Amino acid sequence: MPLRSWALACLAILSLFLLSEAVKKEDFKSCSQSAFCRRNRALADSASEQSNWQSPYTLVKDSIRFSNNFLTADVKNTATNNVLILELQVLVDNTVRVRMDEKSPLRQRYQDHAQFTLVDDAKPVKPFKSGKNTDGVVKITLDESGCRKVVVTPSPLRIDFLVNESPVVTLNDRGFFNFEHLRSKELHKPKMITQRNEDGSETEVEAEEEKDLWEETFRTWTDSKPNGPESIGMDISFHDFGHVYGIPEHASSLSLKETRGGEGAYTEPYRLYNTDVFEYEMDSPAALYGSIPFMLAHRKNESVGVFWMNPSETWIDIVKTAPESHATGVQKVFNMVKSTGQKKSTKTHWFSEAGVLDMFVFFGPSSKDVFRQYTKLTGKPAMPQSFAIAYHQCRWNYINQNDVREVDEQFDVHDIPYDVIWLDIEHNDGKRYFTWDEAKFPDPTKMQNELSQKGRKLVTIIDPHIKRDDDYYICKEAKDKNLFVKQPSGPDYEGWCWPGQSSWVDYTNPDARKWWADKFKLDNYKHSTEALYVWNDMNEPSVFNGPEITMPKDMVHHGGWEHRALHNVYGQIYHGSTADGLKERLAVQQRPFVLSRAFYAGSQRFGSIWTGDNMAQWDALQASMPMIMSVSVAGLPFAGADVGGFFNNPSHELLVRWYQAGAFQPFFRAHAHIDTKRREPWLAGEPYTDIIRNVVRERYALLPYWYNLFQEAHENGTPIMRPLVVEYPEDEAVFAMDDQFLVGGGILVKPVTEEGATQTNVYFPPSDIWYDLHTHDRVQGMASQVVPAPLDVVPAYYRGGHIVPRRERIRRSSHAMSLDPFTLVIALDANGEANGSLYLDDGKTFGYEKKEYLMAEFNFKHGVLTYSIQHKNPVFASSIASVRVERLVILGHPSASKAVATDGSGKRDLDVEKSKNGKLVVRDPAVLITENGWKIELA
Ligand code: GLC
Repeated sequence: MPLRSWALACLAILSLFLLSEAVKKEDFKSCSQSAFCRRNRALADSASEQSNWQSPYTLVKDSIRFSNNFLTADVKNTATNNVLILELQVLVDNTVRVRMDEKSPLRQRYQDHAQFTLVDDAKPVKPFKSGKNTDGVVKITLDESGCRKVVVTPSPLRIDFLVNESPVVTLNDRGFFNFEHLRSKELHKPKMITQRNEDGSETEVEAEEEKDLWEETFRTWTDSKPNGPESIGMDISFHDFGHVYGIPEHASSLSLKETRGGEGAYTEPYRLYNTDVFEYEMDSPAALYGSIPFMLAHRKNESVGVFWMNPSETWIDIVKTAPESHATGVQKVFNMVKSTGQKKSTKTHWFSEAGVLDMFVFFGPSSKDVFRQYTKLTGKPAMPQSFAIAYHQCRWNYINQNDVREVDEQFDVHDIPYDVIWLDIEHNDGKRYFTWDEAKFPDPTKMQNELSQKGRKLVTIIDPHIKRDDDYYICKEAKDKNLFVKQPSGPDYEGWCWPGQSSWVDYTNPDARKWWADKFKLDNYKHSTEALYVWNDMNEPSVFNGPEITMPKDMVHHGGWEHRALHNVYGQIYHGSTADGLKERLAVQQRPFVLSRAFYAGSQRFGSIWTGDNMAQWDALQASMPMIMSVSVAGLPFAGADVGGFFNNPSHELLVRWYQAGAFQPFFRAHAHIDTKRREPWLAGEPYTDIIRNVVRERYALLPYWYNLFQEAHENGTPIMRPLVVEYPEDEAVFAMDDQFLVGGGILVKPVTEEGATQTNVYFPPSDIWYDLHTHDRVQGMASQVVPAPLDVVPAYYRGGHIVPRRERIRRSSHAMSLDPFTLVIALDANGEANGSLYLDDGKTFGYEKKEYLMAEFNFKHGVLTYSIQHKNPVFASSIASVRVERLVILGHPSASKAVATDGSGKRDLDVEKSKNGKLVVRDPAVLITENGWKIELA
């Protein structure tokens, strides 16, 4: 090609590239392109501009009723005369529910999502005291101590949640509450305004807020909006709470940023709308794959939370203000003025496109209380099988059965443990899920059996788009049974995804859920065995030719509900149906493992999620920390990011650093785009392979500790990858910290996320003693200090006061290690004490629900380690009868020259070995994990 043509061709390619880069961002709406977002923000603007603004909503005093633990009252919009019903209910565990819906709506609004979101534990209780005064102010006291109260002030409507007489949370504090009543298009009289023309004449035109009420166009798509405007908005103030967290999923900081004014503020609100965003931007409030409308607020030693239960598109504005200097509203009424210090307050404004107002306030008072309260409502995080928390090897794609065998063998050759190998969309017949490409995978059963013999598993991808093809049994059955999402005019909705023309199963239909779950029966899913588990991707749902790469909002679900009303919960229901299928496929139920990309409140009941298609870049590695922590504080602890980065090729250094971070994150999976170079750990060569090997092995050594943490999360919803603020609620230095984290309560990790770094700054909360995880040296010096972090080191530390169980005989899979002896790392606190726990079950079935487990505690005090079993199921215990403790590693200068073990078989003298750094190793105490009451005494 002549030079000029080359140059032109290059230019054309470059401009295409630039164009496509630019187009990507424009695929998604900004607030100004979304009519209900504009309307609610405009209302907030006009209210803020008017010094005498009053919310038009007032409570009708003589409508107030207390019955069946409910407060009900009418709330009138004095501007439109529209009437709402307010319901206020106290629930168990310091939780309050507030609902508002129209009293006589033109049509019902969607509320079925509650069945997918809430679990039965959300029980109402009788408040300790309730009543109203002559002004119609309602006061409900939650507890006997009178410490927690809810106060409803009628005019204008305002709901305060008080702790010790000071409001902590207020609804409609700034008067942005907005409930757009349903109206008939025919009877709707648009608001007109007078516009002055250039020639001085006047014309009547529709007011700005009338725009896009009944139809809305974004790029080439027109949303028919048959119900017209139906959004709801509320402002929620957190008084004197300087930090708020949660509302995932965003590639943003852990402590959420302001979105309207203020230093470093975003200009857009945080958006919750499940979307498949190609090469998503860092440091942005833009919506991503999942949405959990839960927010945690924290100030020194106190946390509260809010759950806005609404699965339609939602936006949240955040501003921070100085504390109110004078008493307002309810404070005046009850004379409740108290000094609240100089902390910043956080004021939030939430608005959703459809549905009713249905929200929950959690009083805490600690963040761990809030996690428990929230997961009591939306469900406990699932207890995973033990393999699921080990290392996963994925790429798009392992191309055939030989490839799988070779990769599997190479792990053994290189002595790197792994538990699961994954097959992406190329493994099946033309993206027809539940099938196999038989040329590439001639004997999938044999392949699974071979993996199984090594204690390993296979995961296959199953997406929710179903190829339109009558010869494909899944499509045929779904069509015949009428299970697809519909167009408003009746036929199945069709759009484009991986297989080409596709339809989407309507999982909101109970028949569809049952039918789908049945597809996982071993007889139905051909060549699947019990070693096969599932990956649910593209379930936002992703539709390549849809508005914002998803399903149009006016498509219709079971019961005639618009997609608009339930978009954000669609992927969660799908995830749940898949998990049900895996649970039910064998005579003895096994815990499902299903990874999902989309999520919503309650997804934690079904499995794990990951942060989608990240880039092989340093900033994406950094962002994985706040992203996973934000999901974790919103009740979903089993989360991870593609190790290595999905798009592009990581440098060896980045790959190593990513493994180091990933090994300490709950879901630990390497994954890569089809166009990237192969990057299995041995391909990098030395020293990289060796470093990766060591850090994967470290994950395996710590698996017993991880399993304890998953059990704790399952009980209480406590994050596993834990922001420091959760463990140090009084230390303001950590409230916004998201570049380091704790694994549970006992290990601090500061992954290196900077290219070329050989050292990094670590903050060691000064109320504790810290010990280097690798060298066991005690950390000396300042709270904040620079530590060496050459490529082979991920700075990680044991926290004094904790006992961490490890298994140090690393084998090829976690299964192969399940009867291995334990090493206990006993990291002493300033008093020379430490505690820890051990939870063991079969790692597989739901036997633990029938108490088939062992739960025990280690306690070290006055130089004596004691072991006490809280619960031991005899049948389970007999399966682990040989498991013993083979080593104690005691950190923190215990003085001893020998040790004595005492158990049922008598006393034994043990060898001890002291190192220079003050570490004491006690060898082979040979005490059994199933025997209660043994002691090891240092002497
Ligand atoms: C999506 C997923 C990615 C997967 C790919 C092909 O981009 O996020 O993980 O590899 O689809 O299935």
